Amino acid sequence: MNQKLEKFKQIIAEVTDLGRAEALLGWDQQVNMPKGGAEDRGNILETIAGISHKKFTSSETGELLEDLKLYAETLDPKSDDACLIKRMAHDYEKRTKVPSKWVEEFAKVTTISQGVWEEAKSENKFTLFQPHLEKVMELRREYADFFKPYDHVYDPLLDDFEPGLKTREVQDIFGKLRPQQVELLKAIAAKPMIDDSFLHISYADQGQWDFGVDVITRFGYDWNRGRQDKSVHPFTTGFGIGDIRITTRFDPDRAASALFSTMHEAGHAMYEQGVSETLRRTPLANGASMAVHESQSRMWENLVGRSKVFWKFFYPRLVKIFPQQLGNVSMENFYKGINKVEPSLIRVEADEATYNLHVMLRLELEIALLEGTLKVKDLPEAWNTRMKEYLGVVPPNDREGVLQDVHWSGGMIGYFPTYALGNLVSAQLWEKINQDIPNLESQIEQGKFDELLGWLHTKIHCHGAKFEPQTLVKEVTGSIITPEPYMRYLKSKYSEIYNL
Ligand code: CO
Repeated sequence: MNQKLEKFKQIIAEVTDLGRAEALLGWDQQVNMPKGGAEDRGNILETIAGISHKKFTSSETGELLEDLKLYAETLDPKSDDACLIKRMAHDYEKRTKVPSKWVEEFAKVTTISQGVWEEAKSENKFTLFQPHLEKVMELRREYADFFKPYDHVYDPLLDDFEPGLKTREVQDIFGKLRPQQVELLKAIAAKPMIDDSFLHISYADQGQWDFGVDVITRFGYDWNRGRQDKSVHPFTTGFGIGDIRITTRFDPDRAASALFSTMHEAGHAMYEQGVSETLRRTPLANGASMAVHESQSRMWENLVGRSKVFWKFFYPRLVKIFPQQLGNVSMENFYKGINKVEPSLIRVEADEATYNLHVMLRLELEIALLEGTLKVKDLPEAWNTRMKEYLGVVPPNDREGVLQDVHWSGGMIGYFPTYALGNLVSAQLWEKINQDIPNLESQIEQGKFDELLGWLHTKIHCHGAKFEPQTLVKEVTGSIITPEPYMRYLKSKYSEIYNL
C-alpha cells in the first residue's frame, strides 16, 4: 500500500504544481501583464488546465484512490494521509461526474455572458443580460443533477465552496440572523448620522501604502514568504507555503477602503502562510473553505482593525502620516467614522451591520432561480422588493441593483453565502480566542499580535484544508456555525457607538 500511496502523492504533487503555475500566471496577469498579452495568456492557462485535469481525472488516479480509500479507513481519521485521501476522493468524484461536454459548454457560455454582463451593466439594461443568465442557470441546474440524489438542488453548488455544508443548514442560520440584523439596522437608522467626511478627502497613495505595510508587518505577515503589489481588485494568491502574495489598490478619495482591504488580504495570506509544512505540494495547503478563509480576513479587518483598542495604538501613527487630513479629528470621531452604518445599494461598500443582508438577499434569489420558483425576467423586481424590505433602500436602476456583481455572469452560483458565513465564523472564533487569551485587548492596544496569530496558527491555519468547515469550527469552538456570537458582537459594538 505504501507504494500506491507514494505513487498517488506524486500525482497529486504534480497536479498541485500545475495549479500553482496557473495561479502564478494569474497573479502576473493582474499585476504586470500588458493588455496585449490576454490572448497568449489565455492559451497558456488553457493548456496547463487541460494537462492538470487529465492527470487528476485519469483512470490511474481513480484506481489508486479506490485502493487508498480502504486503506484510509485503517488510519487515524485526523492524520494528513487520511484527510488527503478523503478530500481527493471527494474532488475526484466531483470532477469525474461532470462530462467534459458540459465543462466546455459552461466555459463558452460564461465567457460570453461575462462580456454581455459588462455591457448590460454599463448600459443599465438588464434585458440584454437576461437570456444569458437564463442559460447559466439552466447549466447550473444540469450541473447539480450530475450529483443526484441530493437533498436540495443548491447543495452540490454550495459544496464546491463549503465542502459538506448543506443548503438547509445555511437557510437555518440565515433565518435566525436576518430578523435580528434588520431590527438592529432600524434602531441605528433612528439615530443621528455619523460624520465621516474626513475619510472622503484626498490621502496620498504613498502614505496609505506605508501605513498598511506598518500594520500588517505588526500583524505578523511574513514578508520573507510574501510581497505586496498593486492591482485593480485586491486579492491574495499563493504558489506554495513559502510564497503567499497580496495586492492592494488606492482610491485617493476613499482612504479607508485601501487600508482595510490591506488588512483583509493579509488575513487571507497569513492563513496560508500558517499551513503545516507537512501539507506542502498537496491541495490541503489551502483554507478549509471559502467561509473559513473569509473568517480570517474579516477578523483582521473588522474585529481587530475596526476596534477601538487597535486605533488606540495606530491612530497616532496614522495622524503622523496624514497631519493635514486628521490633525483635527479626535480618535473617538475617527473610530466612529470608520464604523459608520449606512444602508447602501452596493454590497462591496457595505458596513458590518448591513453586509450580511446583501448576501442573504442574493442567496434567496439564487435558490429561487435554481428551484424555478423565480423566473430570470422577474429578477430585478424581486431584487428591489427585498432591498426595500431588508435595507430600506431601493436601487434607482439595475446597474446599482441586480447587475452590480460579476458572480452570476461567471456562473459562480453558491459563492455568496460564504461571505456572510465568514463574518459569523470570525465572531464565533473571536469569543473563543478572548476566553483563551483574556488580556487580548490590552495586547492589541500595545500593537502586539503574536499571541493572537499564534492561536490562529495552532487552531486553524496549520490544518489547512484537512477538515470540512463545520467539523473544524465545531472542534475549535465547541459548536457548528451559529449566528449568535456575531449578533452579540454587532449589538455590543453599535450600542456603544450609536447609544442604542
Ligand atoms: Co476575502
